[in-house]
Amino acid sequence: KKTENQLLVIFGASGDLTARKLVPSLFNLYVARQLPKNFIVLGTSRSDMTDNEFRNRVVLDSKYLKPKLEDLQKDYIEGFSNSFFYEDLGGSYNTHYGRLQKRIEDLDTKYGLDGNVIYYFSTPPTLYQPIAKRLGDVGLNNQQNGWKRVIVEKPFGYDLETAKELNSGLQEHFAETQIYRIDHYLGKETVQNLLVTRFANTIFEPLWNRNYIHHVEVTNAESVGVEKRGGYYDTSGALRDMFQNHLLQIVSLIVMEPPIGDAPEDIRNEKVKALKSLRVMTDPEVLKSHTIRGQYVGSEIKGEKIKGYREEDGVAKDSTTETYAAIKFFVDNWRWKDVPFYVRTAKRMPTKVTEVVIHFKSPHHHIFENSGVNNKDNKLIIRIQPDEGILMKFGVKVPGQGFKVERANLDFYYSSLAETRVMEAYERLLLDCMQGDATLYARSDEVEAAWQFVDPILTYWNKTEDVRMYGYAAGVWGPENADELIEGIGYWRNPSEN
Ligand code: BG6
Repeated sequence: KKTENQLLVIFGASGDLTARKLVPSLFNLYVARQLPKNFIVLGTSRSDMTDNEFRNRVVLDSKYLKPKLEDLQKDYIEGFSNSFFYEDLGGSYNTHYGRLQKRIEDLDTKYGLDGNVIYYFSTPPTLYQPIAKRLGDVGLNNQQNGWKRVIVEKPFGYDLETAKELNSGLQEHFAETQIYRIDHYLGKETVQNLLVTRFANTIFEPLWNRNYIHHVEVTNAESVGVEKRGGYYDTSGALRDMFQNHLLQIVSLIVMEPPIGDAPEDIRNEKVKALKSLRVMTDPEVLKSHTIRGQYVGSEIKGEKIKGYREEDGVAKDSTTETYAAIKFFVDNWRWKDVPFYVRTAKRMPTKVTEVVIHFKSPHHHIFENSGVNNKDNKLIIRIQPDEGILMKFGVKVPGQGFKVERANLDFYYSSLAETRVMEAYERLLLDCMQGDATLYARSDEVEAAWQFVDPILTYWNKTEDVRMYGYAAGVWGPENADELIEGIGYWRNPSEN
């Protein structure tokens, strides 16, 4: 695909995301010669900085870029850093848009950017709407001379109502086709591969339904705690931070019907349908038995003292924000009727891992001694990260007399593929937006459908007095009570086991 000349304007350019993700991703694209011929980055934020200070901060002295810059020629690095410019937008992001407009025009003329602009919103979310409005006020949304696109960072809304407000607020100034809502999980190769596994093979899809699938399990575990983001996290929690967006995106790819093609709207239409078919839980009794929340408490791991969540910087001492969430739910459609889905996400788990496990039903008639035992049933494990790959578990005969069945693995690891360079999530997504491909971005109705499902859980957790908050020691697989959710059907798979 062709990447046209363009300008990337980053709002919130002094923030962590710019230095940690955006600029390193752009650098990878630079090295891979995937940036357009004429390409300029204009950083903006509330801080006062010169172009050179900005270049030093995000490129030349950046600790995130340093390892990539070692051994490279100075003029090669400068070829990259000289395409960075900076304009401050005053204390409130509210003023100076006339000046911004002038700067954009000047850069456009000088560097031949053909009027194409991406605005990347990476500020606190309360500013997204005001910035879109200011851009509209000075005509910077005008597509007569070159296209204009907006990338919006998460969180996209705080609940359904605020997400809707944000959607309509942005849509007053930009058309839906100009708005790219980023969900970096969609930029992960293995998440995209869910589509290929399902729809480019004959052997999975015929089984991919209630007739053969017993239940579906999705685990997202992080070993880290909230790190330096306690202030933000305490207003968010696992359900908002991970489940509403990243995990429901994964769920939608597992649940969706085959799209008619691979055009962005073909795929996004099916994802919306999938999200809309999640059974919304509103009955308190159902919510009580189908949801579990928890918070990590201090512990010691390998001799190192680990702080509990409530002791983290920026977190309220009596915080009721969850760092663990496990949800059981059903999907009300022809394909999935009565198949339970179990999805959990948490911080401070034993290891970092994201995986999808499709648990198949037992053979309906057991001929052999120990066949059909739950643990021996077929499983398809899709490893999103790390050790990206796919694992299929099936029964084999134990050598010797009789018919003893043992479990064996068929493994595929991404690392065994040829030496193709795997793009990082942000890199892939940035390049897609630069080329106008919105397939891997969330559409407004997708985001709203996801909130529609999550909202009642949040309301139940936050407004009902007797909802338990289970403690779990940092470094274990969450509260013991989380097993109750899945009891009777099996147990949560321990992702550390192969
Ligand atoms: C972010 C969350 O969206 O995803 C973080 O805000 C989380 O809390 C991160 O740590 C996880 O991303 P990844 O790619 O490391 O799994």
